[in-house]
Amino acid sequence: MMTSSVYTAAIAVANNPFDLNADAAYSAWRQGKLDSAPAGSGVFVLALDNAARLSTTERNAVFDRLERTNMVVYELKDPASQSKPLILQLGRQLGLERLDSNLCADEDGITTLRVVDKRREGEYVPYTNKRLNWHTDGYYNRPDEQIRGVILHCVQPADEGGENAFMDHEIAYLQLRDENPDYIRALMEADAMVVPANIQNGREIRPEQGGPVFSVDSGGKLHMRYSARARNIVWKNDPATQAAAECLLDLFQADSPYIFRHRLEAGQGVISNNALHCRTEFKHDSDADQGRLLYRARYFDRVANVDCDG
Ligand SMILES: [Fe+2]
Repeated sequence: MMTSSVYTAAIAVANNPFDLNADAAYSAWRQGKLDSAPAGSGVFVLALDNAARLSTTERNAVFDRLERTNMVVYELKDPASQSKPLILQLGRQLGLERLDSNLCADEDGITTLRVVDKRREGEYVPYTNKRLNWHTDGYYNRPDEQIRGVILHCVQPADEGGENAFMDHEIAYLQLRDENPDYIRALMEADAMVVPANIQNGREIRPEQGGPVFSVDSGGKLHMRYSARARNIVWKNDPATQAAAECLLDLFQADSPYIFRHRLEAGQGVISNNALHCRTEFKHDSDADQGRLLYRARYFDRVANVDCDG
């Protein structure tokens, strides 16, 4: 079976815009991307009547936004309907099937994101209220288990903070390639970015994982593997890679027209082809409840227009 979940050594699709040798294809794609990217506008929120059974109009709206920005914010018209099975059902209608049941996921493959007082061994930052720097999900995953689609659903926001920001990873590629194609060349190398092993109390929770930042799947789509964390990331020690990593950081300036900021409200969520994102710190003072609660489903699939009953 053809799989799109492994990095492809060579770009399998002819005239692929992400091929550094395909200048004409890149120019055409670049123009189309810039023309359709909703730069500088506020976040578009797509209201869903019934996420368990999307209308054709709703599905087309999701695909349109994903095509243009690789992410869309949705809002359930009936927040009382929110549940983990509903998130799974929503995903299935968009070609999101193969869940990454990572070590933090619940039995159904969805991860419950909530601040926990007692940290479990090898715990990651998403379970705290601290700021999360720019990243794509699962950048530490094995090459054959890359995360290509994500649904992040907000059951309850924090009292204060916890705002997300998003940037289309195709725009990051475009801006970097415009700056210097050698940056892209460096970041497509298999040893560009290494995540050291996660070792807690002498036990390896996760092995060292190297890989490219940008890769192209067998369907010709761009994938990005990235973390802006200075700690826990080892960039290849050559001038081009170091300069490319610096240049990437420069893209995340506060005034970028390609950064979309949004604080998810209860009943809202994000469907994304694992676009770049970050999160601000948050605070929850109420004693009456347990605070910010999100469901996160990570998939080995990208959003795709599948045949669907609903
Ligand atoms: Fe994330």
